[in-house]
Amino acid sequence: MEIVFEGVILRPWSVKDADRLAVIANNKKISDNLRDGLPNPYSLSDAHNWLSTIIPINDPPRFFAITMENYLVGSLGIVTKDDIYVKNVEIGYFLAEEYWGKGIITKAIKAATAYAFSRFDIVRVYAESFADNPGSRRALEKAGFACEAVIKNNIFKNGVVKDSCIYSVLKENFFYKLPRI
Ligand SMILES: CC(C)(COP(=O)(O)OP(=O)(O)OC[C@H]1O[C@@H](n2cnc3c(N)ncnc32)[C@H](O)[C@@H]1OP(=O)(O)O)[C@@H](O)C(=O)NCCC(=O)NCCS
Repeated sequence: MEIVFEGVILRPWSVKDADRLAVIANNKKISDNLRDGLPNPYSLSDAHNWLSTIIPINDPPRFFAITMENYLVGSLGIVTKDDIYVKNVEIGYFLAEEYWGKGIITKAIKAATAYAFSRFDIVRVYAESFADNPGSRRALEKAGFACEAVIKNNIFKNGVVKDSCIYSVLKENFFYKLPRI
């Protein structure tokens, strides 16, 4: 399956993506803004290990390669929740640095959110951005998310305590529709 939205295509990961994933994810500017699960440096072995972990459990698809013209440019994951949080999903993402500033992640967030609302029985999609990540915060806002809260001192990244921001959109307030899946 593919999620197609204004020239950006999200598709499930393949083992064939390992080489390119290892190149784009091996960037400290990316890992510095994500949870510690994405190491730096990021090796081909890291890429193979991650793909072999997520591909067998990617049904229904939740881990997506972001592609432009059939070329891998980023990653977007939808994390389903359980227990009392079962009506939420969380999204997380990164883009190859050479593709920043072109609106690609904004489109990918819209596409993934539309997909999540149509595919899962949920009422809310949210993302957590470090407070000092204006590119991610702005992309979420452009995709229709609102900042719900700034959580003080809840991030410890690279030895520094930071604030984070919770952005969300509720199903009733989300209006982008996918042309096809
Ligand atoms: C966050 C990330 C995906 C954004 O990708 P992107 O391609 O730049 O995003 P977009 O082009 O769709 O939108 C970015 C917006 O933020 C703005 N922006 C970027 N850097 C900014 C800065 N330092 N200050 C203010 N605004 C900034 C851009 O101008 C753009 O807004 P505009 O269209 O109104 O001009 C990319 O920088 C990335 O992969 N970062 C590392 C990983 C990461 O942070 N992941 C998110 C974790 S929550």
